Amino acid sequence: MADDTLIAVKEAIASTAKVDEAKRRAMAERATSDPEGFWREEMRRVAWMREPTKIKNTSFEGDVSIKWFEDGELNASVSCLDRHIEAGRGDQVSILWEGDDPNSDSRTTYRELHARVCRLANAMRRLGVRKGDRVCIYLPMIVEAAVAMLACARIGAVHSIVFGGFSPDSLASRIQDSECTLLITADEGRRGGRKVPLKTNADEALKTCPSIRHVIVAKNTGTAVAMQEGRDLDWAALCDREAEICEPERMNAEDPLFILYTSGSTGKPKGVLHTTGGYMVWASFTHDLVFDYRPGEIYWCTADVGWVTGHTYIVYGPLANGATTLMFEGVPSWPDSGRFWQVVDKHGVNIFYTAPTAIRALMRDGEEPVKKHKRSSLRVLGSVGEPINPEAWLWYYRVVGDERCPVVDTWWQTETGGILISPLPGAVAQKPGSATLPLPGVQPALVDGDGKLLEGAAEGNLVITDSWPGQMRTVYGDHARFVQTYFSTFKGMYFTGDGARRDADGYYWITGRVDDVINVAGHRMGTAEVESALVAHPKVAEAAVVGMPHDLKGQGIYCYVTLVAGEEPTEALRKELVAWVRKEIGPIATPDAIQWAPGLPKTRSGKIMRRILRKIAANETDSLGDTSTLADPAVVEELVENRVGR
Ligand code: WTA
Repeated sequence: MADDTLIAVKEAIASTAKVDEAKRRAMAERATSDPEGFWREEMRRVAWMREPTKIKNTSFEGDVSIKWFEDGELNASVSCLDRHIEAGRGDQVSILWEGDDPNSDSRTTYRELHARVCRLANAMRRLGVRKGDRVCIYLPMIVEAAVAMLACARIGAVHSIVFGGFSPDSLASRIQDSECTLLITADEGRRGGRKVPLKTNADEALKTCPSIRHVIVAKNTGTAVAMQEGRDLDWAALCDREAEICEPERMNAEDPLFILYTSGSTGKPKGVLHTTGGYMVWASFTHDLVFDYRPGEIYWCTADVGWVTGHTYIVYGPLANGATTLMFEGVPSWPDSGRFWQVVDKHGVNIFYTAPTAIRALMRDGEEPVKKHKRSSLRVLGSVGEPINPEAWLWYYRVVGDERCPVVDTWWQTETGGILISPLPGAVAQKPGSATLPLPGVQPALVDGDGKLLEGAAEGNLVITDSWPGQMRTVYGDHARFVQTYFSTFKGMYFTGDGARRDADGYYWITGRVDDVINVAGHRMGTAEVESALVAHPKVAEAAVVGMPHDLKGQGIYCYVTLVAGEEPTEALRKELVAWVRKEIGPIATPDAIQWAPGLPKTRSGKIMRRILRKIAANETDSLGDTSTLADPAVVEELVENRVGR
């Protein structure tokens, strides 16, 4: 696919798009030349209890300080609930829930959601949860997840959601890091016809979490679970006796809204901290522009609320904009691979947002499961989480969208709070595989390894040179790590960790991570986390983990394992290690390949040369590069010889 293939859909829908090409250009210019004026207007998208007079106060230098709307006051739950009810939209559906079981669904109006949020918020206050306290949420994709988030926001508690697929260990370390005092979970989750034992996992995790005082347990599957007297409380029994109104806490724009743990190159996952004002403005602004959202439309993002995409584009963005947001408990392949399109037809979905890994998996099953469903309600298609290859893009566009719907390939990160680079439907001509242009207010740039800015068409490290309202403010409890991770590689710039190419039209093509983070089926993982899980096994002496190309998942997990002296590399042990990593981190970290490595390629100073390991895993053994600096070059030959899949 040539770079300059522009998809004509832009012309087809430009006449009806809310933001057309000229308007987008004008917005982008204004946001750069007069950010104060631009954001002073855009901030009105959220409901302020006290309107800010100070707009932007940010510095990427020195200690790095990012403040937006710093003298404003608001409550995120009011923007998502109360004001829609006040505007007469209380009876509109806020959350349209579709269960794992195709026969189960539910509709919660804005009024009902408000009442449920207030009841839980009151119950939490009664349990002693106060503004600034951290609350961990470990829930499946049920309405209660959104209720719990908004109830935290209502009383100023900081939520920290842990994806339901994470292990007890992963849950425990996240609870410990931010010293959560309350955990909100459910008996079990459901996914693809199977059950996930959330409460049992939580009980295991809580053995090492002394900060937790109470656990609120939602009944979901109804299975009997152990309830610890004095600690565990039944959600329904707790909330039934609470009032349906709850005074919202007045929050400063820079008070924390949530923490979300994400993987980096080194060490344990970091607690990415987002604050209230800037995040909410960014969530509303980007959801509105990128999806060309119109009142009354049914909007569906297939992510899980355990990831940032679920935070911003299932809950905060759509609810701030008064949308009907579809929340899906299930998986694309169950009961069959037509499930997405069956749900689209069932609920008349207009805007659909998913991940390339799902598209690639569905592509494999051919067009029939798609064509069996009408999909005539679809208007905009979105993609997020990893680079989308042009083949998958075109399949999405042609087969799913019948060449009618623009595809918005949205590039962003947990750290960015919301979308930074994406086409706007009808305003930006698309090129399959390119995230295209920055949104108004976003200033990306490419730099070489020395931090030199690259002009025009170029390839390099993707940085952002100035702040935008949705940017993360710090790493929870470790500001030095924040500065070190994002602002020390290239002075005065936010470093994304991604590589990108910019073509002659100024379009960005994200090439993937340039650090030791891998992206497995749209899930972000630090190779260091998998390595530390492996070396925790008593038979493992050393491990090195790299990403390898994978047809469906984008990247797979390739592990080189050195056993302790005297241990035999057997098939049984290989299986045991795979199961071990799943247990330590969670099923999303299941290794795809384990290679027994009697030795690892190291420099004379003992540093593992990952570049070589990546090449071997990718079967690019002709281009291993210079191995002369290795302490023992023979190690490489041995590894090439015994590559998994050779
Ligand atoms: C990758 C998910 C290419 C990228 C929202 C980024 C993408 C990481 C795209 C963040 C895209 C996300 N094209 N790559 N459209 N979207 N990525 O924090 O490597 O889970 O750095 O946030 O996903 O993953 P995270």
